[in-house]
Amino acid sequence: MAPRLRGCLLLLAMASTWLAAADVADAGGGGRAVFNVTDFGAVADGKTDNSRAFLRAWTKACATPGRPTVFVPGAGDGSYLLHPVVFRGPCRGFMEVHVAGVLRAPPGLAAFRGCREWVHFSSVDGLLVSGGGTFDGRGSTAWPLNDCPKKRDCNLLPTSIKLGRVRNATITGVTSLDSKFFHITVAGSHGVRIHRVTIRAPRDSPNTDGVHIQGSSDVRVTDSTVATGDDCVSVGPGASDVEVSGVTCGPGHGISVGSLGRYPGEEDVQRLRVANCTIAGTSNGVRIKTWRGGSHPTAVSGLVFEDIVMSKVRNPIIIDQEYCPYASCRHESEQRPSAVRISDVAFRNIRGVSATQVAVKLWCSEASPCRGLELRDIDLRFVKRGVATQSQCAHVAGGVVAGTLVPPSCI
Ligand SMILES: *[C@@H]1O[C@H](CO)[C@@H](O)[C@H](O)[C@H]1NC(C)=O
Ligand SMILES: *[C@@H]1O[C@H](CO)[C@@H](O)[C@H](O)[C@H]1NC(C)=O
Ligand SMILES: *[C@@H]1O[C@H](CO)[C@@H](O)[C@H](O)[C@H]1NC(C)=O
Repeated sequence: MAPRLRGCLLLLAMASTWLAAADVADAGGGGRAVFNVTDFGAVADGKTDNSRAFLRAWTKACATPGRPTVFVPGAGDGSYLLHPVVFRGPCRGFMEVHVAGVLRAPPGLAAFRGCREWVHFSSVDGLLVSGGGTFDGRGSTAWPLNDCPKKRDCNLLPTSIKLGRVRNATITGVTSLDSKFFHITVAGSHGVRIHRVTIRAPRDSPNTDGVHIQGSSDVRVTDSTVATGDDCVSVGPGASDVEVSGVTCGPGHGISVGSLGRYPGEEDVQRLRVANCTIAGTSNGVRIKTWRGGSHPTAVSGLVFEDIVMSKVRNPIIIDQEYCPYASCRHESEQRPSAVRISDVAFRNIRGVSATQVAVKLWCSEASPCRGLELRDIDLRFVKRGVATQSQCAHVAGGVVAGTLVPPSCI
C-alpha cells in the first residue's frame, strides 16, 4: 500500500519502478519536461482509478528542476476516474499541471474514507493548473449524504480542489463542476491567482461554495463565473489582502465574508476588495456574516465593495451579525450577541435590482457595534416598480454617507 494522508493517496519519491520506465518527452523547443499521465498508465475509460498513475507522473515531475509539466490529455468523450489524491511538494521546479481532459471523482463518499479533499495540492511553491479541462466532483451522488444544512456539528464532505500551504500558485482556464462540498479551497497559502475559471453546480446543491479562502494572504479571484448552491466566493478567518474582481455570481448565496466568530483562535480578516462584479439571482449580494452566540472577538476591517451590479438579489448589501441558520441555535448560549468587531467597510457604486424591499441591511452586534461604515453611490431599486426600497440598521456606530443613496441611508 502507498502511504496515505488521512485516507488520501500520496506517493513517496522512491515508491515506484515506474519512475525509471517513464517516457519523458520534450515539449519541443522550450526544454520543458512533459510527464504525460497516459505514459504512467492512466486510461480515460471512466472506470479505472487513475490516482496512482497521476501520482507517479507528479512525483517524477516534482523531482525535475525547471518547469516540468504533468500533462493530462483530452480524451474525447472519455474521462479519467480519479480517487482522492495529494499532490505534495516541495518540488524542485515550478510545477505545471495541464489538464485538457475531464477528471471525474468517484461517486458517493466510500472512496474518500475520511479524506477531506479530492484533488489536494499541498506545500507546493510555484504551481500553474491550466489546460481547459474539467474537474467533475459528481456531487449529486453525495449531496443527499450532507447533513450540514441541518446540523451544526456535521461531517464535512470533500472539497474538489484544495490549495493547502501553497505559494505562488495560479489556477486558470479550468472548470469545476458539481463539487461534493466546496469547489476550490485556498488555505494557509500566499500568492494565489484564480483567473478565468468556471464553477458550476445546481442552485440547490448544499455547501457548494465556489472559492473559499481562509488563513491566506495575497489571493486574487478574477474574471471568473460562479453559478452554485452556496457562496460564490467566501472569505473566512485569517484571510488578508484578498481581491475579487470581474466575477459573475449567480445562482448562489453571493460574495460573503464569514461565517466568523464561532471558533476560538480564529484570525482576523483584513483588506478585502470586491470590485467590478455582477451578482444575479442570488440570496445575498455582498455579505458579512458572524455567528450569534459566537464569543470569539475576531476583527474584520479594511473591506471595500465597489462597482457592483445586482440583478434580482434578495439581500444586495447585508451585514448579519445574528447568523445562526440551524434549529440548534435556540440554545441559551446562542442568544448572546456576536463578539466579532467590524470596522472600516465601504460600499461604493452598488446598483441594480433588489428582490426584496430591504435592499440594505446593516445588522451589527449589540456587543460590538460596527464602526467606520461607508455608503456611497448606492442605487438599489425594488423589483416591483413604484415601491421604494428601504435600509435597516442596528448597532451601527456612525459612518460616512455620500452621493446618491437609494434606499436612503439608515446610518
Ligand atoms: C500524451 O499521450 C497521449 C496518448 O498517448 C498523446 O495522444 C498525446 O499527444 C501526448 N501529449 C503530450 C503533450 O505528450
Ligand atoms: C512565481 O514563480 C515564477 C515562475 O517560476 C517566478 O518567475 C516568480 O518570480 C515567482 N513569484 C514569486 C512571488 O515567488
Ligand atoms: C470588469 O469585469 C469584466 C468581466 O470580467 C471585464 O471584462 C472588465 O475588463 C473588468 N473591468 C475592469 C475595470 O476591471
